[in-house]
Amino acid sequence: MAAAFYLSFIFFLSFSISYAIVPLSDTFQYVNAGDFGEFTSISEYTPTYRFLPPFTSPFQLCYYNTTPNAYYLALRMGTTRTNSVMRWVWEANRGSPVRENATFSLGSNGNLVLAESNGKIVWQTNTANKGVVAFAIESDGNMVLKDSKGNFVWQSFDSPTDTLLVGQTLRVNGGPTKLVNRDSITNNVNGAYSLVIEPKGLSLYYKNTMRYWSSNFPILNRANVNMVNATLKIIESEYEENNFHRLHCEVTNAGFFDNPYLDMGTLRYNSSLSYLRLSIDGNLELYTYRADVHGHAWAKLFTLFSRDKSETETDYIDECQLPNRCGKFGLCEESQCVGCPTPNGVFAWSKNCDVKLPSCNASSFKYYKLKGVDHFTVKYTSGTKTSLDNCKNKCTKDCKCVGYFYHTNQRRCWITHELKTLTRNWNSTSLAYIKTPIV
Ligand SMILES: *[C@@H]1O[C@H](CO)[C@@H](O)[C@H](O)[C@H]1NC(C)=O
Ligand SMILES: *[C@@H]1O[C@H](CO)[C@@H](O)[C@H](O)[C@H]1NC(C)=O
Ligand SMILES: *[C@@H]1O[C@H](CO)[C@@H](O)[C@H](O)[C@H]1NC(C)=O
Ligand SMILES: *[C@@H]1O[C@H](CO)[C@@H](O)[C@H](O)[C@H]1NC(C)=O
Ligand SMILES: *[C@@H]1O[C@H](CO)[C@@H](O)[C@H](O)[C@H]1NC(C)=O
Repeated sequence: MAAAFYLSFIFFLSFSISYAIVPLSDTFQYVNAGDFGEFTSISEYTPTYRFLPPFTSPFQLCYYNTTPNAYYLALRMGTTRTNSVMRWVWEANRGSPVRENATFSLGSNGNLVLAESNGKIVWQTNTANKGVVAFAIESDGNMVLKDSKGNFVWQSFDSPTDTLLVGQTLRVNGGPTKLVNRDSITNNVNGAYSLVIEPKGLSLYYKNTMRYWSSNFPILNRANVNMVNATLKIIESEYEENNFHRLHCEVTNAGFFDNPYLDMGTLRYNSSLSYLRLSIDGNLELYTYRADVHGHAWAKLFTLFSRDKSETETDYIDECQLPNRCGKFGLCEESQCVGCPTPNGVFAWSKNCDVKLPSCNASSFKYYKLKGVDHFTVKYTSGTKTSLDNCKNKCTKDCKCVGYFYHTNQRRCWITHELKTLTRNWNSTSLAYIKTPIV
């Protein structure tokens, strides 16, 4: 009896699963072939592109390339009507381009697949036989696969690259946990910077370990409470008759506290079409979009590291905090590269400013000293508490160490494997020792 019931239950189950298929009229296959779009000059990274039918204004699905025959399937934001740059806010296959005649398809089993023309799968949602009945681009730019009840079986908001749209979320547990920048305009692979959500805040890293910024949420630290997720949100002001909206990156915490946030400025208009971007140079920028403004649809509302404090920005930090502000090596002060340190003194900075790497043998190198200088990691990391001698020894024993930094007042030590931008603070307690070959 029980076995019979069990059996019929299994029958019922397999029936209901096989029943939830994508209707033939909603399946598609779009081949990467045919004419290119005409608006290369107003498309971000000036690529060639082909647009695909899925479009929910102002979001258009496209194939685009910045080097010949290396295409990315991506979502573009902006319409040609505004005659303003159209920007790429999501992409499927960064680092794994497809060629001519590749296909993007939704089969009746509900799996969304990007494949080469020979059938080799490059990217997929892994949603075969999971009840998917349709694909859609929602009005907020989220691309979704829905089941028959309208729930999202898959959403593009869960796989960001370098961009967060309004409503999109990073999560500490279960991810997505980070944004990663694009390497360069032409090279669409992961770059060296990441914006990561951590239990105590949001952080920016260079090469995954060198922290160059972190949000300060004292309430979470004091209360020993962790963060859950961070969402880009538009907050309406409390004043009535005042069309006032603020953009926040709001952080939900696991306690009973108000949610802390990064304030990214005031919108002078009501537009939920904005995005936060971890840019090629490691900066964090927020752009807002107005579909009705010809030629100037975009406004940059927020820049984390900037030269001047604009009226709308409340949180801003000097550009000298950007690891690559002064290239391979350089002294930075008030957002400017002001010097190239050498064993013989500080010379004028140029792009060629660099360190001479000594061999590993301790008798082949020495250190020269700089005063009033910090490494870009010092401000947002605690270093280790130790003596100046121990700090030096640590660097000397580490072949990859190129210099050490020491705060004499707090007896704190930082050693580093890459120097890049050094920030000048004129503080006599901040010392830097740079490795150099004995010639
Ligand atoms: C793409 O497919 C078409 C039709 O099968 C074919 O004529 C064309 O040569 C293909 N292009 C490339 C670059 O393989
Ligand atoms: C963020 O976390 C809160 C608390 O767990 C949860 O209620 C909310 O749904 C989460 N938001 C998103 C978009 O995941
Ligand atoms: C702002 O725009 C959103 C979406 O377009 C709308 O739901 C909301 O009511 C608007 N708010 C105001 C104050 O106009
Ligand atoms: C390190 O350099 C010294 C002096 O140049 C030399 O005598 C010694 O053999 C070197 N050690 C190694 C391990 O190469
Ligand atoms: C400079 O040094 C003093 C102690 O001499 C310290 O209190 C202060 O925080 C330091 N300032 C910076 C910007 O490092």
